[in-house]
Amino acid sequence: GPKLIVPSMHTEMYQNPANQENLAWLKTHGAKVLGPVSGDLACGDTGLGRMVDPSLVIATIMSMLNGIHPSVTLRDHLHPFENSVLCSAEPNTGFAQKRILITAGGTREALDSVRYIGNHSSGQLGHALARLAAFAGADVSLITTVSLPYDIPGVTEISVTSTSDMAAAVAEIVPTVDTVIMAAAVADFTMAAAPEKIKRESGLSLDLQPTADILKTMPRHDGLRVIGFCLEDGDVVAVGRAKMQAKNTDVMVCNTSASFGADRRTVTILEGADSVPETVSGTVDAVARAILRRV
Ligand code: CTP
Repeated sequence: GPKLIVPSMHTEMYQNPANQENLAWLKTHGAKVLGPVSGDLACGDTGLGRMVDPSLVIATIMSMLNGIHPSVTLRDHLHPFENSVLCSAEPNTGFAQKRILITAGGTREALDSVRYIGNHSSGQLGHALARLAAFAGADVSLITTVSLPYDIPGVTEISVTSTSDMAAAVAEIVPTVDTVIMAAAVADFTMAAAPEKIKRESGLSLDLQPTADILKTMPRHDGLRVIGFCLEDGDVVAVGRAKMQAKNTDVMVCNTSASFGADRRTVTILEGADSVPETVSGTVDAVARAILRRV
C-alpha cells in the first residue's frame, strides 16, 4: 500500500545526516514525506521538526486513499491551501542540486509613515513556484513581500517591502544561484516618503520617479537561467517578446491583470526568439508546474 511518513522530532535529530539519508531513501522508494514544519517542539525549543497540522495528515491520507477508493472525497472539502500542499506531496528529485531564486508578491512604495502605493499581486504564483521547486529537491531562496503561510523545508524566505529592498536582496543572492524566476509584481514608480503621516489639510501631490528595473540590472553570471514575467493588458505576446530582448531573459511568462489573485490563470510562455508560444490555463499549481518545466 502507499506509505506516508510524517516526521516529528527535535531539529538536530531531524537534520542529522543519518535521518536525512533515511528519509531520502524512503522517498526514492516511493514513500511520501509530509513536513515537518517549524514551530514549538515538545521539548520546549522552537525550530524545524514540528509535525504538520493533524488535519493535513488526515487529508493527505484521504487523498492518497482517494486513488484507491474513488468514493473518498474529503479533498473536495479542503481549504485551497491544504489542497495545494496535498497536490505537491509527491516525492520528486528532478531539481536536486538546483539553486533557484524566486521573487514573489507586489512591492510597496511608502508615501509617508502610514501609506503606500501597491498593487493587487497576491504572491500565490511565486509561493507555488517555491513550494513545487523545493518539493522537487531544489534549494530555493524566496524573496517575497507576502509571507508563506507555513514553513517549507528547502525554502529560505527573505521578506522585503519596497522595490529597493527587493533589488538589494536579489543582487546579493543572484551570484549564488543557477536560475532566477522573477515573478514579483515590482512597482514601477516610487517617491521620497514623508517621515510622518501627511495631514489631509496639507493636500497631496506625488512626485513619482521610476524605480530601478531589477530584472534588467541584476548581476548576471555565465550559465544563469533567467525567467521573467510580462504583465500587459494589450497584445501580451508581442510585448513579451520585446521585453524578453530588452530585459535579456531566456523565458518570458506573459499574463494579464486578470491573473492577479485568481485561483485559475492563463499564461503564455515564450522561450527564445522564434519559439512557438505555449499557452497554459489551469490552477496556480498547474501554471507553476508549466513554468518550472522551463527551468
Ligand atoms: N521588473 C523588475 N523591476 C521593475 C519592474 C519590473 O524587475 N522595476 C520585472 C518584473 O518582475 C517582471 C518583468 O520585469 O519579471 C516585467 O515586468 P512588467 O511590469 O511587465 O514590465 P515593466 O518593465 O514594468 O514595463 P511596463 O510596466 O512599462 O510595461
